[in-house]
Amino acid sequence: MNLTLSSKPQSQLLVVPIFTNEKIPALLKTINKTIRIPAEAAADYKNKLGSTQVLYSEGLRILILGLGEKKNFNNAAWRSAIFSAMSRAQSLDATRASFILPASQTSPETMVELTAFAILHSSYEFNEYKKEKKKAKLTIIDLVVKNKSKKLQKALEAGALIGQAANQSRSLANHPGNRITPSHLAKHALDLAKQYKFSCKILEPKEIEKEKMGLFMGVAQGSDEPPRFIVLEYLPAGRQAAFKKKPAIALVGKGLTFDSGGISIKPADRMEEMKYDMCGAADVLGIFQAAAQLKLPVHLVGIIPSTENLISGRATKPGDILISKSGVSVEVINTDAEGRLVLADAIDYVKEHFDPKLIVDYATLTGAVLVALGDEYTGYFSNTKKYDRLFAAASSKTAEKFWPLPLPPEYQEHIKSQIADIRNVGERGLAGSTAGALFLQHFVGGTDWIHLDIAGTAWTMRPKPYTSVGATGWGVYLTIEFLKNVRLKK
Ligand code: BES
Ligand code: MN
Ligand code: ZN
Repeated sequence: MNLTLSSKPQSQLLVVPIFTNEKIPALLKTINKTIRIPAEAAADYKNKLGSTQVLYSEGLRILILGLGEKKNFNNAAWRSAIFSAMSRAQSLDATRASFILPASQTSPETMVELTAFAILHSSYEFNEYKKEKKKAKLTIIDLVVKNKSKKLQKALEAGALIGQAANQSRSLANHPGNRITPSHLAKHALDLAKQYKFSCKILEPKEIEKEKMGLFMGVAQGSDEPPRFIVLEYLPAGRQAAFKKKPAIALVGKGLTFDSGGISIKPADRMEEMKYDMCGAADVLGIFQAAAQLKLPVHLVGIIPSTENLISGRATKPGDILISKSGVSVEVINTDAEGRLVLADAIDYVKEHFDPKLIVDYATLTGAVLVALGDEYTGYFSNTKKYDRLFAAASSKTAEKFWPLPLPPEYQEHIKSQIADIRNVGERGLAGSTAGALFLQHFVGGTDWIHLDIAGTAWTMRPKPYTSVGATGWGVYLTIEFLKNVRLKK
């Protein structure tokens, strides 16, 4: 996709966003004085959010894009509108389109960045396994702005590259389990690190054993595919020595390339979706790619414990006790609660080796979060309020929604074990997502921490108004926005 800024429409397909009850000709006149839209046509359009109408006028196609009621308009609405416009424009056989930007509360820079991101996100299609690949004809898009500037140009480039990073992360997650095994994931991380210039170290089974990551190994032991423990570090180019001394932010991503549940095996129905159990890992890689390209002034560490959760004569059994890196004994009541096991060792590892100021983890951790919040809200857990506002601001900008869930100390009882320090599940039917989070908190200790349960948001099996089916890349854009503005607090 080739995106440019221009002060006049550059193509014969003009996308004109219009609110409900907004007068069409008034808006168009400022762009092109010769365009006339019959009043009765204008009156016919209700301009519901995402609706599209195509008008033909002297060699010009005008795609009227509904924005809905002006009072309800926000960044999420704009994202859906773009998705509709892109689908319609693709179906018109156009190779090039010009987008007029709507009037909105956000700054022109933000509007341009959001638009560029959403155009890239909307034009993504995963067709690597199809013989017949639909070739996207629409490849050039210009955003029509009043005044071009360096600032706007930078915003355009930023939005586009974050969009590319999110799409890259989606592709990684969309590949099936036989294509992306832990070794493939590690190889992919190495390739990205080389291309975007951050560092990447891979621990193989021997080194994982040396690190005493007994919970991670306990999950991995049922599979013939060897696990990989991926360690990333990003420092801004030219200022690496200075930033190496600064406290790090650690991003931890669950990297289960397939989760069968293990001996506590999952039902067959929809088990194939468990190839997406590495969306957290894909998020972390996407964030690293974008952070490095944007040269963000932060010290970032990325940790991805990657394995399959399978069944064999060597697999961990319900009732087995495993010992974590930090020496905590864990009774594995259910081998399907494996995400918290691999993440616990990853948290211990990053604390020991990097002593980060803030840990953010991304994990498709619990089915229960879908029950609680559905597939539009990520479950947000944190042991500090320090970053709540910044995170919320990033979320409302990028339209990646979340909802806070509690970490009540009184529920720590739920993960007590009769014979070990803790067990890997809570009480049946009680606050399942919180139980997973409390398990992780046991290892996090006093470090500031945000846990994102993305089991509902990381992928979708039905098309949504703003995205196609498959992995969504939830969190890549939000986190980049968060990292742009974060100041680490004592
Ligand atoms: N990867 C799953 C969580 C999941 C389930 C994500 C459905 C998306 C859709 C995780 O490893 C898991 O199996 N969790 C169990 C935990 C339970 C055994 C305490 C679950 O949610 O059922
Ligand atoms: Mn599981
Ligand atoms: Zn899982």
